[in-house]
Amino acid sequence: MFHPRAPIGSASIIAAMISMALLTTGCGRERLTASKIADFIDSNRPSDEQAPQDAPPNQGNNETSVNVEAPKLPLSTGGIPTLPAILYEYANVQLPSHFRGPGPGGSVIQTDNTPANNPMTNTDATLGRVLFYDTRLSANNTVSCASCHQQSHGFGDPRPLSEGFQGALTGRHSMGLTNAQFYDRGRFFWDERAGSLEEQVLMPIQDPVEMGMSVPDLREKLSTTPFYASLFDDAFGSAEVTDESVSRALAQFVRSLVSFESKFARAFTNGDRPNVSAALTPQEDRGRRIFDRNCANCHETNAQVGDRPRNNGLDATITDSGAGRGQFKTPSPRNVAVRATYMHDGRFATLREVVQFYNNEIQANPELDNRLENDGLPRRLNLNGAEIDALIAFLNTLTDGAFLTDVRFSDPFE
Ligand code: HEC
Ligand code: HEC
Repeated sequence: MFHPRAPIGSASIIAAMISMALLTTGCGRERLTASKIADFIDSNRPSDEQAPQDAPPNQGNNETSVNVEAPKLPLSTGGIPTLPAILYEYANVQLPSHFRGPGPGGSVIQTDNTPANNPMTNTDATLGRVLFYDTRLSANNTVSCASCHQQSHGFGDPRPLSEGFQGALTGRHSMGLTNAQFYDRGRFFWDERAGSLEEQVLMPIQDPVEMGMSVPDLREKLSTTPFYASLFDDAFGSAEVTDESVSRALAQFVRSLVSFESKFARAFTNGDRPNVSAALTPQEDRGRRIFDRNCANCHETNAQVGDRPRNNGLDATITDSGAGRGQFKTPSPRNVAVRATYMHDGRFATLREVVQFYNNEIQANPELDNRLENDGLPRRLNLNGAEIDALIAFLNTLTDGAFLTDVRFSDPFE
């Protein structure tokens, strides 16, 4: 048995309420004093009154329609975060035995991409959480990481393409960040162009469509936002805002987004071997067996993580080469039911469409992964209606309701 997500009981909720009033840390150190807040409120009126930042370079594409109004998103703009007096636990999360022990294709923890020089700490991940939800990370204070990575959607975005800070669309579908920590190769984006998560997290901030900031602007903006001084100081021993500290904190928060509870997980009451009949309905279990036979060789381990980019035959003619030859990073279907739309371009609106695609619609192309071929032809599963329903039912058991509502990952500005 394991004891997940321990320190978010009623004691810390009360503590959080106390901190709203007192704004002190659990160890008695001052975090945000009343006078700092007064200074902050005076010097940082709501974002719509702030001087707009310089627009990013247009990149010679005059056709991009630019929406001057902020996208209408359910997000805080500006404001100060409310943090718990006793920091939430990110560093010492006890993973369950089915993550630690062997599973189909290996154990989950063996795919951990945490680098030795950026281990998880509660202060760093707390700063990362604030940064993740802060719209100040975009040039016109309208978009945060969470605009396109929404907790209730497994830290993905239901829209096929997301809207950046000026309303322009991203080139690909947003990726769900659930269990980003568990990807052996430690590379990020659909095409794996980021060599590490530490490198990745600074890229959307500077992306001309997504957030449109320069790193000097970012340093300047965060340095003049008073509450950050104590957060950076607590995390890195200095109030100075550096690219490295922003990167380390954001990467840790993203790595903290670990999901290991779900209906499927409840089958593992007895170590790493599933006692499925106790947890899953016969239909879900039938779907699990179909998944193990046909999908688990790419969506591996008990966290169904990908092993590397692959071409899964979406198109006969490759239009987006991805990581090369139409290969894309293989995402985990963990929390997939709340993450529609699907694939790198968001082409499928439902899990049924995904399953029908894998059933009979895989396209022949020279780069098709041989796991999806039979005798040189695209594999046809020829599942009947009941089997399709069963596979969808199994994918639905991978939804982790505790994760999707965990306060540790929620918006501190709300
Ligand atoms: C405007 C929407 C948008 C914003 C804002 C945004 N992202 Fe993303 N994110 C995306 C899209 C789209 C992709 C996939 C892009 C690609 O692969 O080409 C992505 C991919 C990622 C990935 C790769 C996941 C993986 O498994 O490889 C990570 C990590 C990530 N974003 C974190 C962040 C962080 C941290 C922030 C804030 C600093 C952020 N994103 C802001 C849209 C956004
Ligand atoms: C050859 C490896 C491979 C096999 C086998 C495979 N997949 Fe995938 N899967 C991928 C890749 C690669 C992607 C991403 C493709 C893209 O977006 O271009 C993907 C994407 C998905 C997605 C979309 C996830 C998201 O976040 O958008 C789902 C759901 C999925 N697969 C389910 C399945 C199921 C169910 C099976 C078995 C019937 C299966 N996969 C078999 C490689 C594979």
